[in-house]
Amino acid sequence: SMKIGTAVAGGGHHTDDPDSPSSTEAAAYAEVLNREFSSVSAENQMKWEYLHPERDTYAFEDGDAIASSAQQSGQVVRGHTLFWHSQNPTWLEEGDFGAEELRTILKDHIDTVVGHYRGDIQQWDVCNEIFTEEGELRENNIWLRELGPGIIADAFRWARAADPGALLFFNDYNVDGINPKSDAYYALIQELLAEGIPVDGFATQGHLSTRYGFPADLAENLQRFADLGLETAITELDVRMDLPESGRPTTEQLEKQAEYYRRVTEAAVAVDGCNSLTLWGFADSYSWVPGTFPGEGAATVMWEDFTRKPAYYAVQDAL
Ligand code: XIL
Repeated sequence: SMKIGTAVAGGGHHTDDPDSPSSTEAAAYAEVLNREFSSVSAENQMKWEYLHPERDTYAFEDGDAIASSAQQSGQVVRGHTLFWHSQNPTWLEEGDFGAEELRTILKDHIDTVVGHYRGDIQQWDVCNEIFTEEGELRENNIWLRELGPGIIADAFRWARAADPGALLFFNDYNVDGINPKSDAYYALIQELLAEGIPVDGFATQGHLSTRYGFPADLAENLQRFADLGLETAITELDVRMDLPESGRPTTEQLEKQAEYYRRVTEAAVAVDGCNSLTLWGFADSYSWVPGTFPGEGAATVMWEDFTRKPAYYAVQDAL
């Protein structure tokens, strides 16, 4: 059945938050995490800059802590991510490597990381955010820029070899509906499948804002990928809003947010093979939104003290 997931941070607090939480707060966080969720994603700790801080150094401690606490709680883990333009270590982005060496670096990373977590990861976001809004492969992705589009197939093959049991996904934002960006994935995935490349899934992150209209064709979009034989997932759902001066959202804003959460949940339930619905954090105190989108916030289903917003009940009712 469909997993309900959340992003988590290593020490049980948001990594953008300079203050560690008190032990009471950490206990309250863990209680909600284990009561409400059957899947977890490392919000940052399985990204290159965390796992691979120097060329010859891997740092698995924080990722391992997430994986083992998930295992103890009977939760599956989404691995995030192996191939991205962002949150790469300086040694990689600023290194002066030839194409052959870069290819070796990527293969070594995938072999080592996917191999390390072999059997512990239900699904990997192999490639994250590889297309622009126009549906062009990103020039700011080191792998695509230096190695060309053929490297995408290699990444999936290497990941499959390193953990044959993990489902292998593409993942991106603004691909909730049918648009040039999701069309680009639809075309690419068909090509890869025709060549026998092991692609198992397509995921939309679902970073939504009530500033914009709801992507009403979400279910239709996921369904066309399901019809290719893929699993689908919603991997990073949050619904941000413009915060009033008071910082406290209005009742209308909370209702609109709840409606977005409800509609996403209904779409996930409606699409066969949508295997998980993951929230990008479950309480506002742990959300990346205020630090990233000036003036917006309150994007999760719970207030800072873990009390429930209308959005929480909207998800619950739609499941
Ligand atoms: C974000 C994290 O939430 C932040 O803590 C971090 O500072 C930046 O990355 N798409 C993704 C995620 O695939 O990895 C991003 O996570 C949010 C957008």
